[in-house]
Amino acid sequence: MMNLVSRLCGKINPISVKDYREYDGLKALEVCLFNREPNELVDIIKQSNLKGRGGAAFPTGLKWEFVASENNDTKYVVCNADEGEPGTFKDKVLLEGCPLQIIEGMIIAGYAVGANNGYIYIRGEYPRAKKLLIDAISNLEKEGYLGQNILGQEFSFNIEVRSGSGAYICGEETALIKSIEGDAGRARHKPPYPPNEGLWGKPTLVNNVETLANIPLIINMGPEEYKRYGTSSSNGTKLISVSGCVVNKGVFEVEFGITLREILFDICGGLKDGKQLKFIQLGGASGACLPEELLDTKLDFDELRKLDISLGSGAILVVDDTVDLLGFVKTTMEFFKHESCGKCVPCREGNKHIVKILDRIIQGNGTERDLDLLKNISMVMRDCSCCGLGQAAPTALITTMRFFEDEYNDLIHHHYKKDIDKLNREVI
Ligand code: NAI
Repeated sequence: MMNLVSRLCGKINPISVKDYREYDGLKALEVCLFNREPNELVDIIKQSNLKGRGGAAFPTGLKWEFVASENNDTKYVVCNADEGEPGTFKDKVLLEGCPLQIIEGMIIAGYAVGANNGYIYIRGEYPRAKKLLIDAISNLEKEGYLGQNILGQEFSFNIEVRSGSGAYICGEETALIKSIEGDAGRARHKPPYPPNEGLWGKPTLVNNVETLANIPLIINMGPEEYKRYGTSSSNGTKLISVSGCVVNKGVFEVEFGITLREILFDICGGLKDGKQLKFIQLGGASGACLPEELLDTKLDFDELRKLDISLGSGAILVVDDTVDLLGFVKTTMEFFKHESCGKCVPCREGNKHIVKILDRIIQGNGTERDLDLLKNISMVMRDCSCCGLGQAAPTALITTMRFFEDEYNDLIHHHYKKDIDKLNREVI
């Protein structure tokens, strides 16, 4: 286990500027404002090879460069704290444990890309974290680290906190932007990407909580030192949130390169009550269900991508072999059916139909054609949905059909056989 990004969680009063400064807090911001040009900071983040920690792993430095290179007097920085993926609660630990570090990352980002205003969009289900953020912002304002002419320099930066109201879709950046603007949270097609056209049409940098919490560390230790952590394609550490049938649940910070097996057995103590593993779901409800044979896979963006799997937000749900596979997938699909914003057809209709078909199979009325339908609908959703919600919604279905195909077939053929036996009995 590592203690880098989350090193202050539980150690200091989370909103005390004094406590934070005792652990080098705000040193990075001071160095940036007094000794670095904005473009140097963009280069430092590019050199660090930091990739977005919200799930998509887009290179952070490149995103900063896109926003920095926009010629516009008004730009924004948005911290995406709408952690809505089921099983994901790693940002909550940072928001409640070190809000000052996240805000410091945000101010540095604002200085680097040329933005003077920031928003933290936090899910409504995190009221404690919201209160801590508001208090942390107020304390930084009092000490001159936020507001007009920060530390007497030319640079000014203000932050507002906005809340979501329970819609999963609002974590998707274009829906999140709509929500801040006061509209219903619905995703739109990209491009244009927010770095070019974001909040109120202005260039906007949207970064995840954990991504921003990495920024002060990278500035303080330098990109080369930072790159000593992790693997060549995935530098630094990752916060993972583990839940399900496992001895030790919770949030753990791990170095990239660790295997899923090491996480499950060395860090989390294995399965509870001597149960056997069925699969782990990596990346929350929208993540892949991976069988035991894949446990030696490394936590590494490239290695996972080769297997057509995404690390996503870093959630790991451990599922034992007493769980009903199709029931599990149906519950997952019901979540997406409920959360679909309804704007695009593949997602709105696809989720609905998958739930119906799974229900039919579970009731014992499924046919082979239903399996083809499930595959076709999920491919259309993956390729044609407007945003990540619809594209990723059938991942549990696709991966369980890939790794546990026999169970789908058995269920259908078993019921077929039952029907044929019944017919035979009736005929005889
Ligand atoms: P995406 O791949 O569309 O974009 C990733 C980021 O890169 C975005 O900020 C986007 O604006 C930027 N980007 C990509 N190409 C760009 C370009 N050419 N120019 C400028 N900017 C560009 O992925 P998306 O939809 O933002 O995120 C999907 C991920 O979110 C999934 O991997 C999923 O695991 C994760 N997720 C996380 C949740 C959580 O609670 N943390 C909830 C739901 C999904």
